[in-house]
Order: sequence, then C-alpha cells, then structure tokens
Amino acid sequence: MTVTAADVVTTAPASASPQVVSWVERIARLTEPEEVVWCDGSAAERRRLISRMVEAGTLIALDQERRPGSYLARSHPDDVARVESRTFICSADAADAGPTNNWVDPEAMRATLDPLFTGSMRGRTMYVMPFSMGPVGSPLARLGVQVTDSPYVVLSTGTMTRMGSQALAQIGPDTEWVPAVHTVGAPLAPGDEDVAWPCNDTKYIVHFPETREIWSFGSAYGGNAILAKKAFALRIASAIGRDEGWIAAHMLLLKVTNPRGRVFHIAAAFPSACGKTNFAMLQPSIPDWTVETIGDDIAWLAPGEDGRLRAINPEAGFFGVAPGTGVETNPVAVEMLGEDTIFTNVALTDDGDVWWEGLTPEAPGHLIDWRGEDWTPDSPTPAAHPNSRFTVSAAQCSTIADTWDDPAGVPLDAIIFGGRRASNVPLVAQARDWEHGVYLGATLASERTAAAEGTVGELRRDPFAMLPFCGTDMADHWQHWLDVGAGLGDKAPAIFQVNWFRKGADGRFLWPGFSENARVLAWIIDRVDGRAHGVDSPHGLTPVDGAINFAAAGVSRADWDALFAQDPAALAVEADDTDAFLARFGAKVPAAVREQHEELRRRIG
Ligand code: GTP
Ligand code: SPV
Ligand code: MN
Repeated sequence: MTVTAADVVTTAPASASPQVVSWVERIARLTEPEEVVWCDGSAAERRRLISRMVEAGTLIALDQERRPGSYLARSHPDDVARVESRTFICSADAADAGPTNNWVDPEAMRATLDPLFTGSMRGRTMYVMPFSMGPVGSPLARLGVQVTDSPYVVLSTGTMTRMGSQALAQIGPDTEWVPAVHTVGAPLAPGDEDVAWPCNDTKYIVHFPETREIWSFGSAYGGNAILAKKAFALRIASAIGRDEGWIAAHMLLLKVTNPRGRVFHIAAAFPSACGKTNFAMLQPSIPDWTVETIGDDIAWLAPGEDGRLRAINPEAGFFGVAPGTGVETNPVAVEMLGEDTIFTNVALTDDGDVWWEGLTPEAPGHLIDWRGEDWTPDSPTPAAHPNSRFTVSAAQCSTIADTWDDPAGVPLDAIIFGGRRASNVPLVAQARDWEHGVYLGATLASERTAAAEGTVGELRRDPFAMLPFCGTDMADHWQHWLDVGAGLGDKAPAIFQVNWFRKGADGRFLWPGFSENARVLAWIIDRVDGRAHGVDSPHGLTPVDGAINFAAAGVSRADWDALFAQDPAALAVEADDTDAFLARFGAKVPAAVREQHEELRRRIG
C-alpha cells in the first residue's frame, strides 16, 4: 500500500500551508512511500524514532548509565563522507555554477532524477521535516522543508536544526522556503528484509539554485543527507545571499572576552576537518581570556542596521569529527558528548561505550571497529573511521555563549581564514585591508582531509573553505565578498590568515595548536583593539617580535622563526600556481583579486 494524496492531506498538521501540503503530495506521488509522518520535533518523537532504529539495528544502544540517551550508528562502508564528485549545481547557465562545480543542465538533471526518485520510497515511511535555519522568527533565519525516508536523517536534522511544529508555523502562504527531497534510494518490496543502513551505490546530491531546490539520492551520510546543512545553509544560501546582499560562510563563530572585559566576535573559515570545532571550543592556555562558542561550522553574515557585519549560526547542533577529539585537545567537546549523542562510525568498547583515535592516549585492548569487526591495537586499520562523527545539540556545550541564539546575531570584529599548510603560510598574518583579505580567502589552499572522498593530504585550493559548498560561480562569490566589504566601509571586520599546521623539515607540527591557539587569537584581538603591532610581510602584517610568548607555549626560537619563514623561491612557485588557479575563472576574476596577486608578486620580488 502506498499513500494517497488524501493521506497526505489528512495527516498534515492544521498549520501546514497549502503550498507545503501540495508539495508533499507531489513528492509522495513520485516516491510512493507506504506512510507519511509529519515531524513535530518533540522529545516523544525523538524517543519513538530511536526505539524504531534500535529495533531495526540502525542504532546500537550504548551503556545508558555511562552515556544516557546515546547511540552508535554504523554506516554502509561505502557511505562514509560527502561525495563531491556526485554533488551538482544545476543553474540554468553553466557560467553561474563556475569551473569548480559539477554542472548539469537543469532539465537534463531533472530527466535523470525523475526515474531514480520514482517509487524510491516504496515500503518506507516518508518523514516531513519543516525546519528553521537560525533562531525561529529571526530576520536572518530562513525556512525549509525536507522529506526523507531515513529515520537516522530525521534524528540528525532534529538535533542540527530547529525542526518541527514551530518552524512549520512560520511558513505562511507567502513565505519563501526551500524544498529538499531526500531518499536513500533503497525501496523495499513486500516481504523484503531491511538492512541497518540502507543506501544506493548511485548517488546524486543536486541543487537548483534558481528554484532554490535540493534533491538528494542514495546516501544517508552527513552533508549528503542532512540537507539543511551544506546543501541549504551553504550552497543554496550562497545563491540567496548573493541575490539579497548577505553571505553564507563555512565558518565557526566565537565570542571572546579580553582581560579588560571587552567582548569581541570572530568568524573563522577553515576547510572540512581542519579544526573549526576545536577552535570554536577553545580553552585558552593564557589567563584572563574567555572564549565562548556560537557555532562550529556555518555562519550567515549580513550587514546590520548599525552598518556592521552581523553573524548568526544557522544551525542548532554540532556534527563534529570524532578522531582527534580528546581530553587534551578538546575537553569541552568530550564533556559535551556525555549524553544524548548519536555517534556514527566510531568504535564500540567491550563495556558498551565508544572510542576513537585520539580520545585517549592509549587504545583499549579490544574494540569492535566501525565496520563491526574485532579490533586490537595491532590491527592495521583505524578503529574509528577517519570521518566518524558525533551529532549533539549545541545547547549541551558548556562554553556555548548566552548570545548564541540571539535573533539579531552578533557584530563581527574579525574574520580568519585558515587551512592545513605544511609550508609557506605563516602562523598568523593580518590582511592589509578588506581587498587583501578577500585575496587571502580566494587563494586559500589546504591539504585534503577524510571529510570527503579523495586522497588525504593532497594540497588543493579551497577558496573561502567553500570549494565543495558554493552554489554560485566561485569568482562571483569573491566579487560578492568585495561588494559586501565596500558597503561596510570602515566598519568592516579586520581579516586575518592563520595556519596551525606548518611542519618542520622533520615532518613535525611546529606549533602545538589547540589551547595554545589562544595566543594567536589574543594577538588578533589586540590588533583589532589597537593594542598590538604588526610588521609587514608578503602575506600581510605578522606579530612584532615579543608580541606572542611562544616560549610559554613550549616553542623554541628556531621553530618560531620557521613558523614565519618566507622562502622567496617557494612563494614564487606558489604564485605561479595561483596564476593557473585564477586562470580557471577567466575574465570573472575580480580586478581587486588580480591586483592583490600582482602586489604579492612585487613583494616576493
Ligand atoms: P568539518 O566539520 O568537517 O567542517 O570540520 P571542522 O573544521 O569542524 O573539523 P574539526 O575541528 O573537527 O577538525 C578536526 C581535526 O583537526 C582533528 O584531526 C584535529 O586533531 C585537528 N586539529 C584541530 N585543531 C588543531 C590544531 O590546533 N592543531 C593541529 N595540529 N590539529 C588540529
Ligand atoms: C564538512 O565536511 O565540512 C562537514 C561535514 O561539516 S558534512 O556535514 O558531512 O559536510
Ligand atoms: Mn563543515
């Protein structure tokens, strides 16, 4: 039995707008689910979903005394990260997707998707999830509705967004909302037995920027399936922001209070798995500085009435990288995961708890690895998948700022760009002005991580940490940044670049990172506050000698100098590479970006 249009109407809450109901009807007719459930976002609903998934084997209950309300999910071994090669931007004009996106003509893509989605939810429940990105009712918030046949995705979206009745009530007949269709692409015939993690070898993560639509087929993992996150809040939002004068950014948000009690807000763009969650929960190694968390992955930036750039975290939870999250590196996160957390693809301990590489210095003697197999410290493969993750409500974070869900957002004082760079890029530098800052963002490069398919460690350009997340031509995104900055004038935040990942000749990280990053953050804020000096370098202004107490961070003089060393020959090679990179965008490269590149060339001689 599949649902009928009448079923959709009779099950719809009274507050559902006719547009939402008729869209759900249309998707139900296409995908033919057995049942339609309108999600209300309640605790009871969460409990029902969890017990259903425990029964189905999708979730494994952890020891409920150790980790109340916490569960482990193991994905299909081929469904473990974002699939950039299967992610498409289907703008009417290929030029609007630009050279860094996979573009397919929208009509051709619809013709491809139609047969895939036809009957794709047979034998399954279709969940309807209205959600708000940003505090419900905030002028900066935007609404969406995702349908999915994955209860795991419902549970995740319930944590990652403001999902349910309150969001639905915001959608009136004239409200704009983003429709998102998600299916795991694994219909069940009568009598078929389901698997713990249904998915399909064929995957499509598709965005139509003009009609603000998202269609996702075949994966239940992270950004492929929690469409509110990367698909909406970055890809579709970057197109909306371009049209409306605001910016969607792959950035964490911090509130920092200096020893004088002055409050500053910082946004920082680092590529996937390059330390946003860690930096967002920074526990300063220096006294009298307080860092509080506002967001760890996405920020929406909009010029406010006071002429300053304001920011909100559109999300409501954290979908964080587990490996490397330990008591030493991120104690705030470790504490936050003590309850009501869904872990995906981490290892299971013999006493019903979780473990991953880096949680503790020593691995337990025996584990069940992320694939469900026996594991010992002698095993050649990691116990947790390198892109294993935790999903947890932001409210559970002990360092969450009281203003984290302020509907008005917070005013930004500084913006930071960073990546994983073994060489060339100094520990920190301040851009000379907004245009130089946009150049630093536009030419950002980073070593690949396990957050997406591909070869880990390979250096690639990741402009604004948005390479996989920009729903417009990347060069148009740069121009948009320039335009927004021009509008802000002297109220624009200062821009910086950081690199926690520079290595010595012996392959060792030169900078201890983590809580010691507070020393760099303090210099950044002192610069904004007019209390610190910088010296000119090709990359911008770097700290004057003595401005950062590196010795207290355990860094030797030689390593400190190496963190800022400039090898003109290596910089020239990189500048050539930048030329080749910029050439990909042809005439669309903004003049200001070209001028900044010429300026860099002059400075390296
Ligand atoms: P997405 O959620 O994928 O967008 O990434 P993220 O930027 O939030 O990633 P996250 O903070 O979870 O990055 C995790 C990885 O960065 C782990 O491997 C950490 O060990 C490493 N990391 C974070 N901060 C530092 C640091 O200061 N120094 C070094 N060397 N590694 C760091
Ligand atoms: C990232 O890859 O940047 C993430 C994880 O934040 S995902 O939501 O899966 O894209
Ligand atoms: Mn991310």
